[in-house]
Amino acid sequence: MTAIGTSQAGNNLDPWYHHYAERAAALRASEVRALFAVASRPEVVSLAGGMPYVAALPQDLVINAMDSVMRKQGPVALQYGSGQGVPLFREQILEVMALEGIRANADDVVVTTGSQHALELVSKLFLDPGDVVIAEGPSYVTAMVIFKSYQADVDHVPMDEHGMIPEALREHIARLAADGRKIKFLYTIPSFHNPAGVTLSWARRLEILEIAKTNQILVLEDNPYGLLYFDQKAPDAMRSIERDGVVYLGTFSKTLAPGFRVGWALAPHAIREKLVLANEAAVLSPSSFSQLVISEYLSTADWKGQINTFRGVYRERKNAMLSALTEYLPELTWTNPNGGFYVWLSLPDTLDSKAMLPRAVKELVAYTPGTAFFADGQGRQNMRLSFCYPTPEHIRLGIRRLATVIRDELELLDTFAGTGSLFPAHDGRRFGAPPPDIN
Ligand SMILES: Cc1ncc(COP(=O)(O)O)c(C=O)c1O
Repeated sequence: MTAIGTSQAGNNLDPWYHHYAERAAALRASEVRALFAVASRPEVVSLAGGMPYVAALPQDLVINAMDSVMRKQGPVALQYGSGQGVPLFREQILEVMALEGIRANADDVVVTTGSQHALELVSKLFLDPGDVVIAEGPSYVTAMVIFKSYQADVDHVPMDEHGMIPEALREHIARLAADGRKIKFLYTIPSFHNPAGVTLSWARRLEILEIAKTNQILVLEDNPYGLLYFDQKAPDAMRSIERDGVVYLGTFSKTLAPGFRVGWALAPHAIREKLVLANEAAVLSPSSFSQLVISEYLSTADWKGQINTFRGVYRERKNAMLSALTEYLPELTWTNPNGGFYVWLSLPDTLDSKAMLPRAVKELVAYTPGTAFFADGQGRQNMRLSFCYPTPEHIRLGIRRLATVIRDELELLDTFAGTGSLFPAHDGRRFGAPPPDIN
């Protein structure tokens, strides 16, 4: 931490360099951002972003809902609204959550400007400088930016193919307690994880909730992808098991479209009251227009059928990615998601996904290096590959290019460092593959 007046948030070309609050230091452009600007050129196959394929949503469905809202209740749609969200809309959100086993009261729902904003509000309510947020390792990058902007530290608990490992969670809690650290909440993405692509098993959901309860740790369950399963539904939400110790976050960004910027938090009553006040302080009220249009869409369109359409699109793309990986990079390991947008690839130990990215972009393929998803520098031997946006043909082309980049890099290393093998063995058991003695 720097002394007051010497904040490191800006840079020397910025006349306000010494004026920023310390928390602004966390709001730094990532080192790979400039590369992603290049990666957005059409000739580059981007497996980096997490944009939903909104072209699979018939525009007429949205146009009809907008038209009807403007004709029937234009002045209301264009006006400020309640800081908690439109009451009828909150009732409809209950129907969406019921699909994942959640029984709740509309009074405990707070509509937010995307679930991203709910993450911001919960962090604002709970985090002081020096607090700890426990999260999976890896975890959602932009949640960690928020936690760090409130000057909290992120403690990563390792995962395997069944999600966060309960025994490791116990160890981390005990170590943090012994160090006198204050754990404010456990942030988890249990279904079709971003970026790992894995799903927390039902047994582990029960066990992790029990651990959290015993240690009086609030659980922040972030669930943007739960309804986007391919063949098998995810287990019911953690909030369906435990209501008092869980703040649940949902969104319409992936099941409808992110352009509406509408998400929600379902919280225990006392937290809900504070969330509404924080929401009002931040935005006065969430967009009346977006809420009413989605509400109309939910009342008149086949929204469950539309979610099925999305599921079909993403299933096909995931299959394209996995079969291309099997064909072009059979020596490597990756996760096999049963929903969502992402595959987590493990590289041989000698490779560094961040260092390799410029070469990949030069070869016209982009990915997100694993380091982006850890607060502590892990993840060099991993990358996140998104299959949500490119077509199956482009996914195949992208993986073919990636395989060339990886092989060239390994050959180069072999020439100069004599690693002895193009695919040295590595510990792919846990994600992030830290040296065993670190865990
Ligand atoms: C895990 C996770 N949480 C939250 C968000 C934010 O979504 P939104 O603000 O669009 O609801 C995303 C977006 O990709 C995400 O992947």
